[in-house]
Amino acid sequence: MATVVLDKIDKIYPNGVQAIHGLDLEIADNEFLVLVGPSGCGKSTALRMIAGLEEISGGTLTIGDTVVNDVAPKDRDIAMVFQNYALYPHMTVGENIGFSLKLAKVSKSEMTERIRHAAEILELEEYLDRKPGQLSGGQRQRVAMGRAIVRQPSAFLMDEPLSNLDAKLRVQMRAEIARLQRDLAVTTVYVTHDQVEAMTMGDRVAVLKDGYLQQVDSPQNLYDHPANIFVAAFIGSPSMNIYESRLGALDDNGATLTLGSMDLHLPRSVFDENTELQARCGGPISAGIRPEDMEDASLKPDHPANQRFTSEVVLLESLGSEIMVHFNIDAKAAATGDPDAVEEVGTGEGSSCVARFNPRSGVRLGDTIEVAVDAARIHFFDHSTGAAL
Ligand SMILES: Nc1ncnc2c1ncn2[C@@H]1O[C@H](COP(=O)(O)OP(=O)(O)OP(=O)(O)O)[C@@H](O)[C@H]1O
Ligand SMILES: [Mg+2]
Repeated sequence: MATVVLDKIDKIYPNGVQAIHGLDLEIADNEFLVLVGPSGCGKSTALRMIAGLEEISGGTLTIGDTVVNDVAPKDRDIAMVFQNYALYPHMTVGENIGFSLKLAKVSKSEMTERIRHAAEILELEEYLDRKPGQLSGGQRQRVAMGRAIVRQPSAFLMDEPLSNLDAKLRVQMRAEIARLQRDLAVTTVYVTHDQVEAMTMGDRVAVLKDGYLQQVDSPQNLYDHPANIFVAAFIGSPSMNIYESRLGALDDNGATLTLGSMDLHLPRSVFDENTELQARCGGPISAGIRPEDMEDASLKPDHPANQRFTSEVVLLESLGSEIMVHFNIDAKAAATGDPDAVEEVGTGEGSSCVARFNPRSGVRLGDTIEVAVDAARIHFFDHSTGAAL
């Protein structure tokens, strides 16, 4: 059991690449912290520095009460689970799970007991005599977890441990790992590039981009109050629709937000208590609308007329419980820095916009329809820095 504290950690690789810039993170005892970000943002580098597999170029790393910058990996009392489980194919499941204990010269009886206990937690008891080649992907993943558990470390470090599994198994295993972490109450740092995994598993989520920490907060706060345009676009699926736009003059009723040829009325309440936003009236701004904050206006007859826009449906994805409806709108998409955020669809004219409609909506491909926008839930960002307002 331990806290893990990163204080202004830098990583500069020998070839001069700086993969991590001044990373500050405090991971509480028993906490499940997820490190998330696009490929190449430095997640594995950060994790490997905590593990001791990668030298730290600057800053201080503390595990428990000890500064461990110069402590060897085996003396850091942590266990790591990798993406490829790297099980020994010629050993049985039991031998794989117990291997580190054998190296540590733990007594035979204690080893047997710890293997039995791990196998029980992971429901692997009946597979202990099998070889890894005779297991399913999910079972192999559990053996890899077992190897970490038997060591009774003060922290678990996991680097994309589920990415080799198919989609269904991944969903099942992410629930199992989250439950296991709660039961064992061991501080855990979990790396993934999958924002759904990050949101569903972590007590807190740290978002990295280009080696810089963007924001660290609970999943709900990240979603509701992204600190900047990158986090806004990265967290949430489908991504937030974010456009370059203009705010009109503020009066007692509110102000008009102009996106391309489209005007949306923002009620006065949006500006109350947000002096930063008031100060932007009459100027450029980036405006973000989450897909779930739009609805087929025919299902919302009472929705104000000045909080709607009209557009043609260019793509429909029916998911049963909801429908993803794609439009083109003639506002310019704002740059978010997220390589996956803006996926171009339709005719290529204007920017894409995706809304999450109730399945009762009867929209069809090619229809020109009215879309109701929940204007009070629009997110705003500085148009040049991308900082949330
Ligand atoms: N040994 C190395 N020498 C030089 N540069 C490296 C080395 N290892 C990684 N990098 C660079 O450091 C950056 C961060 O790499 P890292 O592996 O930490 O990314 P990641 O976030 O784990 O990405 P992914 O999601 O693809 O696993 C990348 O630009 C990568 O090219
Ligand atoms: Mg990685």
